[in-house]
Amino acid sequence: MENTMAQSDDITLDSLLEKVYRDGGYDFREYKRGTVTRRLERRLHATGAKTYLDYMEFLDVHPEEYHKLADDFIIKVSGFFRSPYTFQQLAELVLPELTLFKRNREERSLRFWSAGCARGEEPYSIAILLAEFLGNRRQDFDISIYATDISRQALQEAQVGVYSPKDVNGLTPTVLGNYFTGYDRSYVVNRNIRPMVSFSYFDLASTIRQPFVGVDCIFCCNVLIYLQRQLQERVLSMLYDSLAAPGYLILGEVETPTGSLNEKLKCLDSKAKIYKKDRRT
Ligand SMILES: C[S@@+](CC[C@H](N)C(=O)[O-])C[C@H]1O[C@@H](n2cnc3c(N)ncnc32)[C@H](O)[C@@H]1O
Repeated sequence: MENTMAQSDDITLDSLLEKVYRDGGYDFREYKRGTVTRRLERRLHATGAKTYLDYMEFLDVHPEEYHKLADDFIIKVSGFFRSPYTFQQLAELVLPELTLFKRNREERSLRFWSAGCARGEEPYSIAILLAEFLGNRRQDFDISIYATDISRQALQEAQVGVYSPKDVNGLTPTVLGNYFTGYDRSYVVNRNIRPMVSFSYFDLASTIRQPFVGVDCIFCCNVLIYLQRQLQERVLSMLYDSLAAPGYLILGEVETPTGSLNEKLKCLDSKAKIYKKDRRT
């Protein structure tokens, strides 16, 4: 009996997520079910709905609820230099190799992509690291850092680039002085790094072709953990196709490449989660 109930709940949940995709434009159909159900419980509680069916009816009458649901689903926790060891290894392993390769081929472009950039802490950290690493060799390169996310609110905040003292807590006074302007107990990303980063909407779960090609280094950190395995594999394969060769993929601390990418990517540092694409395949 309990089994039948669970099955029918699953079917209703499938229809609910299909509706959220079709009518609300948010695709959570292949997110991990545990996270989805926990977050849905909160929305059911907040709207007074007792069942998924009640909630679907509520959505019909209150379409603004789609955005509230999406906002609850999306976990936007981030931070400047969130995994310090990864950034250290980026500076010590990846950047020397990458810039030497570019120099030998007389190429000026350096292209980075922060996929799932939240409120901008990650792409601005990349910009600060590049500025620090290159120093006055910065003018030898045309630097682009693409930063994408599905949260329009997070993207808007990232674009403005205003952070609280708590947000910038781990940054040194020198970094704060060089890359931020302090106003009224807030810190605004300054012109030293702001032009390097461009923000745009892109849903990693979409079947649309990759938005960028020939990217030298992709950060996709703490996004895959929320996705079911099949979607993880599709996202990773799309990111792989976006990479140049050589190209570097950086994942979150608890994430690893799945499926065929396990063989295609060489692990440069398993703790820093840095992987390298060597060949054009
Ligand atoms: C936990 S934050 C991680 C932010 C940053 N990468 C980091 O590691 O600090 C996850 C981010 O991924 C975004 N996200 C979730 N699903 C996504 C999708 N399908 N496409 C693009 N971004 C997504 C969320 O909006 C959120 O900003």
